[in-house]
Amino acid sequence: TYLGLDIGTSGVKAMLIDGEGNALGEANAPLTVSRPKAGFSEQDPAHWWDAVLKAVDALKDKHPQEVSRIRGIGLSGQMHGATLLDKDDKVIRPAILWNDVRSAQECREMEAELPSLRQIAGNIAMPGFTAPKILWVKKHEPDNYARIAKVLLPKDYVRLLLTGKYVSDMSDASGTLWLDVEYRGWSDDLLAVTGLTTENMPTLVEGSEGSGQLLGDLCKRWGITEAPVVAGGGGDNAASACGIGAVEPGTGFVSLGTSGVLFVSNDKFRPNTEGAVHAFCHAIPDTWHQMGVFLSATDSLNWFSKLVGQDASRISQAVAADFSGPGDEMFLPYLSGERTPHNNAAARGSFVGLSHLSDARTMGQAVMEGVAFAVRDCQRVLTDAGTKIDTLMAVGGGSKSDLWLEMIATNLGMAIDVPEDGDFGGAFGAARLGLIAATGADPKSVCTRPKIEKTIQPRADLKSAYDQNYARYRALYSGIEEARA
Ligand code: XUL
Repeated sequence: TYLGLDIGTSGVKAMLIDGEGNALGEANAPLTVSRPKAGFSEQDPAHWWDAVLKAVDALKDKHPQEVSRIRGIGLSGQMHGATLLDKDDKVIRPAILWNDVRSAQECREMEAELPSLRQIAGNIAMPGFTAPKILWVKKHEPDNYARIAKVLLPKDYVRLLLTGKYVSDMSDASGTLWLDVEYRGWSDDLLAVTGLTTENMPTLVEGSEGSGQLLGDLCKRWGITEAPVVAGGGGDNAASACGIGAVEPGTGFVSLGTSGVLFVSNDKFRPNTEGAVHAFCHAIPDTWHQMGVFLSATDSLNWFSKLVGQDASRISQAVAADFSGPGDEMFLPYLSGERTPHNNAAARGSFVGLSHLSDARTMGQAVMEGVAFAVRDCQRVLTDAGTKIDTLMAVGGGSKSDLWLEMIATNLGMAIDVPEDGDFGGAFGAARLGLIAATGADPKSVCTRPKIEKTIQPRADLKSAYDQNYARYRALYSGIEEARA
């Protein structure tokens, strides 16, 4: 059997699969985010490890036989988070997470210092990425900065505790802003901008390659007889793509999680820094991918649900029950600034067009539509880079709402496939990468598409009304941000 571990922002998921890739069981352990100041988002790496132990212990209690036969482990995780270790592997300060936007100024400084940064990295310096967070620490916490021996991404810190090895994989490393994404290696020039060298970096492997073996104590704890290989794994988006079978060029997914992601697999490196596209390595060799990432997808609906004191799923059901087309209210989902397409950490959300008739239902619809427009923004800048999107699957908590997917399908002008019930996220993709590393199987034959339960078609009758509202949505961003500046 094979184990996938996903170190998510809201929890750790452990998932077990058999040699045919069938899910055997899973266990979860929750995590919380600490927001000590506006724009800050941190987690204590010790909590990741506690949650990993809790989840795998629970899996072992439920499936002792299967766990004892684990031969390969794959890791997936929230990307970009900066975990700072001193020379004794002690964590120096809480990890600064992907959705932390404190380092916007440092991004500008990095680009000014190294004018070829966008060209080498294939990406814009955005505060979500790892490197600018280190520059922030250098400036604001010089004592902490001086102690840095290694910088690891969240799942790679977990790997260190699992295997004793400092290793990252190409897909997750792409989100540091220290990787030369086209050539799949650390860039001395990019590292130098933050005063670091390759000494401070983990070694790099492909996501489907082995990176080390599970330590003896842990094998004993979980009753595993033969030390399993731990695969490179991937950032949660690349790992999810392995889980959903988006590894061939033109295949992709829309993820409606805390953040929203439009992901497409590419045969080669295809940057579009103008549109704030993420152009990254995939978790399998010789493959790249693009992503548009917007920071508040289900997070927008969850924020609104808290505000009005109604369950998010109740709101989306109420919207679906009364839906007859685009509403009068509009919502801009920039609650914590935005990456794609604006690269503007200072952007903020808005409701526009409220009246006496506005209520939780109509405004909830606006929130769902705002998220659909954000996906459409991502599609626009991905295709600007010459990418053709052939197929899209829906993943993430928000994809439970057919109406939400229909709004997105209508806006994208393309059908969205919904997989049969099951969990095809990062943990599943990571388990597949563990299987490949352990058996030497061909990545593309393992990372297949799941069975499709249904296909959500665009609504031709609503297309022109959504086209109009999308144009308004774009104009509102410029107008509102100009007025706020
Ligand atoms: C991707 C990103 C998010 C996190 C979520 O660039 O920041 O999707 O990976 O865990």
